[in-house]
Amino acid sequence: MQDFEKFLKNNLPKVDTFHPDYNQALADMLLAGGKRFRPKLLLSIVEAYKPLLVESAMYPALAVEVFHTYSLIHDDLPAMDDAPLRRGKETLHIVYDEALAILIGDALNTYAFEILSKSPFRDDIKVELIKLLSVNGGVGGMVLGQAIDLYYENRELQLSQVKELHICKTAKLIAASMQMGAVIVGMDRDAQQKLYDFGIELGLLFQVQDDILDIIQNEDEAGKPTHHDENKNSFIKLLGLEGSIDYANNLAKELLNRLDNMDRVLKDSLNELLISYIHRHISR
Ligand code: IPE
Ligand code: IPE
Ligand code: MG
Ligand code: MG
Ligand code: MG
Repeated sequence: MQDFEKFLKNNLPKVDTFHPDYNQALADMLLAGGKRFRPKLLLSIVEAYKPLLVESAMYPALAVEVFHTYSLIHDDLPAMDDAPLRRGKETLHIVYDEALAILIGDALNTYAFEILSKSPFRDDIKVELIKLLSVNGGVGGMVLGQAIDLYYENRELQLSQVKELHICKTAKLIAASMQMGAVIVGMDRDAQQKLYDFGIELGLLFQVQDDILDIIQNEDEAGKPTHHDENKNSFIKLLGLEGSIDYANNLAKELLNRLDNMDRVLKDSLNELLISYIHRHISR
């Protein structure tokens, strides 16, 4: 992933402008780090089947990370989760102001699609990648999830609805990252769908774990405020901590089964990345 970090640094959004903060603000949250989970997933799939395409796949990998970073910048805004810390750094609305934080989010959202449009693939592949990121990130994906998350603060949801909320706000982008890898290596529709479905379960586990970490980690460990989900329809709210850990354990077991049934080459490539995440809640 060294290469991904290098690619990111070399492909930061940058414009010629007299605005004193604009370029720095565009770069701040991208350079602040994070787990890079989504690009790693995409690149693991390409690495497994078409290692020669890994260099080209850096473009869509970066696009997904840029899009995700936009979603975090907006998630932290005062009108949303109102969080002053992200990836161990002060959030943009604290460092600069709210207007610039909103606009940097907007800019990164569109920059993600600019990167995809410039990626070195055939036009039909590029259109497929653009479609996957927009469909899963936008209207019926992450944005809808965030709308539900915020509308239902302090209003109760059923478990199936919380599951749907988590799938929209988090799992769809994770699933899209996997399917984008599948599209790049030329998998057929069925194989793509299998990876997408795996990604949905993985993404659901990822968000359940994020809800668990909100309870069991401190701010330094998390790099973001914790104990911050009190008004939210988190899994903790519905199932309690123990119930959420059980729920996550069951999802983890199911994912390990599915992983076992995958192609050897894909299993080997994903294993290294996934094992630590799948067991994230147990190891603490
Ligand atoms: C945080 O995502 C928001 C969720 C969807 C849970 P990550 O946990 O991937 O955050 P970074 O990218 O590592 O900062
Ligand atoms: C955010 O979920 C998911 C996004 C779409 C960004 P959270 O609000 O739980 O993410 P954190 O805990 O702030 O990272
Ligand atoms: Mg949120
Ligand atoms: Mg948040
Ligand atoms: Mg959270």
